[in-house]
Amino acid sequence: MALDVNKIRADFPILSTRVHNRPLVYLDSAATALKPKIVADRVYTHYLLETSNVHRGLHYLSDQATSAFEAARHKIQTFLGADENEIVLTHGTTEAINIVAIGFANTFLKADDEILITELEHHSNIVPWQINAKRVGAKVKFIPVNSEGELDLTKLDMLLTKKTKLVAVTALSNTLGSKIPVKKITQACHAKNIPVLVDAAQAVANMKVDVKDWDCDFLAFSGHKLFGPTGVGVLFGKNEWLNKLPPLFGGGAMIEKVTCEGSTFLDAPFRFEAGTPDIASVIGLGTAIDYVNKIGFSDIEEHEQMILAYATARLAEIKKLTILGSAPNKGPIISFTIEGVHPQDVASIIDREGVAIRTGHHCTQPLLARLGITSTMRASFSIYSTKEDVDVLCQSLDKAIYMLG
Ligand code: ALA
Repeated sequence: MALDVNKIRADFPILSTRVHNRPLVYLDSAATALKPKIVADRVYTHYLLETSNVHRGLHYLSDQATSAFEAARHKIQTFLGADENEIVLTHGTTEAINIVAIGFANTFLKADDEILITELEHHSNIVPWQINAKRVGAKVKFIPVNSEGELDLTKLDMLLTKKTKLVAVTALSNTLGSKIPVKKITQACHAKNIPVLVDAAQAVANMKVDVKDWDCDFLAFSGHKLFGPTGVGVLFGKNEWLNKLPPLFGGGAMIEKVTCEGSTFLDAPFRFEAGTPDIASVIGLGTAIDYVNKIGFSDIEEHEQMILAYATARLAEIKKLTILGSAPNKGPIISFTIEGVHPQDVASIIDREGVAIRTGHHCTQPLLARLGITSTMRASFSIYSTKEDVDVLCQSLDKAIYMLG
């Protein structure tokens, strides 16, 4: 059954606000997804009626909060197809990747070892590897991208050497929208006993993510791109890996025993969850997952692919506009440039028409350098996007080009 976009839009109160006295046209879901009322209500209810710390008290409210918190962890586990104890609750994708990067450098990496990533990565899947590789004298290498914005996997086998200790790849490029054949990569890496981390920050709201099917060793995503609250993220790690990594932060709730001489730590996931977590946001993420499950990825993908195809065709009609990346398999993201005009000037003009897009390097400077540019405009779509949104975008781009031309 096709997704009923009007019904979906009614779940997102922000869509009826006006921006500069125009209806909001929100085309920045890759930066953060809008929140359905049901998620905000759940967070509000927690603070209002259920506030208490988790895993600490033996009183009624603490029990309630702990149950809701652990129920959310279980929803995340089921959503990803993971096993018990494989879901670490973090504050976002960046923290999740840093847990692995720092842990790997402290435990497994030595001088001259290599971490293999791709030219498509977001800075959050580049910088942690660079910082930590450098610390131990290891190197970060890149799988190249071709001019279509796809990974050149013909080079993969050659790049996977005896020195490669881990491969980290995005599942969906936040700048170009290209989808990555994750399973093909994990198969090639596992044939050489190399673990794989997947950055699913962009993929998680747009396609079914199944850690068993992908057979990845680690996976990271943020709640806020999945219609959930900010401040919560997820690190999935196979059980066989998580307990081999040292904790990133020390503190309360992650210890087995503390004496004046030293401390021992709990097993995963708790060894990575020092201090009071963002309880309300974790619970809110559980509600966001319920919401997404109710719609289902088959309808989500069908709707988003329809909008992507329509937007690609409409934008291609605009003179002087170039769409970057032509991978046949894309998520609902389009980056483009317009000859002779600066993306920021365009974004400011179309903002006056109520249209929200992102401009800049999208935290992917190596990718943009590879494409020979420094900035793009990016429109990204979601379950609440409509063809009318795309029409308003195109009309406002025409207007910006006329004004700047
Ligand atoms: N990573 C987010 C984006 O691509 C913030 O906009």
